Amino acid sequence: MLPNIDFTTTQSYKYLADHYIDIVSQSLKSLFDADNERFDKFSIRFEEILLDYSKNRITDETIALLIQLAKECRLNDAIKAMFSGEVINATEGRPVLHVALRNQSNTPILVDGKDVMPDVNRVLNQMKDFSEAIISGSWKGYTGKAITDVVNIGIGGSDLGPVMVTEALKHYKNHLNMHFVSNVDATHIVETLKGLNAETTLFLIASKTFTTQETMANAHSARDWFIKSGGKDQDVAKHFAALSTNTEGVSKFGIDTKNMFEFWDWVGGRYSLWSAIGLSIALSVGFDNFTELLGGAHAMDNHFKSAELNENLPAILALVGIWYNNFFDAETNAILPYDQYMHRFAAYFQQGDMESNGKHVDRNGKHVEYSTGPIIWGEPGTNGQHAFYQLIHQGTKLIPCDFIAPAQSHNPLGEHHAMLLSNFFAQTEALMNGKTHEEVVAELQKAGKSPAEIEKLAPFKEFEGNRPTNSILVKMITPRTLGSLIAMYEHKIFVQGIIWNIYSFDQWGVELGKQLAGKILPELKNNDEITSHDSSTNGLINQYKAWR
Ligand code: F6P
Repeated sequence: MLPNIDFTTTQSYKYLADHYIDIVSQSLKSLFDADNERFDKFSIRFEEILLDYSKNRITDETIALLIQLAKECRLNDAIKAMFSGEVINATEGRPVLHVALRNQSNTPILVDGKDVMPDVNRVLNQMKDFSEAIISGSWKGYTGKAITDVVNIGIGGSDLGPVMVTEALKHYKNHLNMHFVSNVDATHIVETLKGLNAETTLFLIASKTFTTQETMANAHSARDWFIKSGGKDQDVAKHFAALSTNTEGVSKFGIDTKNMFEFWDWVGGRYSLWSAIGLSIALSVGFDNFTELLGGAHAMDNHFKSAELNENLPAILALVGIWYNNFFDAETNAILPYDQYMHRFAAYFQQGDMESNGKHVDRNGKHVEYSTGPIIWGEPGTNGQHAFYQLIHQGTKLIPCDFIAPAQSHNPLGEHHAMLLSNFFAQTEALMNGKTHEEVVAELQKAGKSPAEIEKLAPFKEFEGNRPTNSILVKMITPRTLGSLIAMYEHKIFVQGIIWNIYSFDQWGVELGKQLAGKILPELKNNDEITSHDSSTNGLINQYKAWR
């Protein structure tokens, strides 16, 4: 059972509310000026990852109070409950055990008194054998040719994780061409299949439930394409594999359950890249690299379980996030990787965070009186700098940002990486320090502007600064460091959900739209005028019918 505490009723919350009044008037610049030790004090190293959280609007007292808050909310009990397989996803009656999927220590983890590790290891071995057969070419398609192209069909957690990781680890990839189809818009599958050869294409149907409308529609269209391209029913076994928890659904679709890679209901969709859903990752970069990814995540799990809260990366990120979300009323959190390979990282954690903590009901079923999960967004640097950083620097909204960068590039070409990193360092410094009126005036004088021109221009060129950032510097993006980074953010989301007293592992909010779409689809199949909805929805459907 998870603790059930309204964090706004705790002592520490009250102290934090008072403390906020002290901090809000202080500038980051003055906090740095007053304390030479600030970087050492507010940075944590874990293996080849450095988290510098010193450029946040915090003092020792802030961190002490936030840690007290975590303790009052019994965070440590919650961590134990998750790792020991308690049913912490109470609204779905399930444990939450993505940590078991990467439990390379192989210590028993019990669900209903049964150790899940033998099953986890069995599926990992199956993934190993299969990926090695496909990569080596010993697995032959129906005309005896080796597989050249892999198409993963899935959506949400059955797509975003594999896409993000295969992109982030592109440097490690082999000869297989990877494709991902998620959208039910036919354009996605039609464009993907153009130019592919059925004889050498492998489809992975990735769906935890094997009922998701988009995935099933795309899977059927892929099968039709395969048959139209010359494959026979009996050839499907060589070209279709299923990644799912639903054995019945898989065999009903016509996929031999020998080609099914199983996982379990205690793996949440958005936490499933570590499971059979990660088969496309293992195919793209090889099973050894997939194992390294799991190893990095496992190391972060151990750190999260055992490190003191003031040395605990996920806990610190979560608590600092709560500071902005619940005291500064920040509404969003930008994730800005200075690494082109990580261009889908923010998109991945849009689902990871927003589907987990986008909840307005607490663990008692009561509407919360405080703000919960932030809006997560972001793009890789430096592209973001030329798009939306203007608002971060000079807009009216406070946007806490996570900057992530590798010290070493996989593509050390001329000065590119130094240029990239100079931007990474410059942005966090600029966001913190801003530019004062005096600095702007001096700059304009130097540029030969007249006093009148200076007076007119100065307000537009000033930067208030005091914009908070975390800097996450990684030695290099490898399968291991990437695994650790992903697990770090997963646990950050967990900690925040515990403190907000919400259930982070269900996603009822996506159901209503699905139900209504199911009701509307039959209405689109005839030419009758529709009157069963509100006037807007009726009007839109009827116009669609007139124009189609
Ligand atoms: O968007 C809702 C959701 O249930 C996600 O949580 C999940 O990742 C996605 O749909 C796909 O579900 P499935 O893997 O069952 O097809």
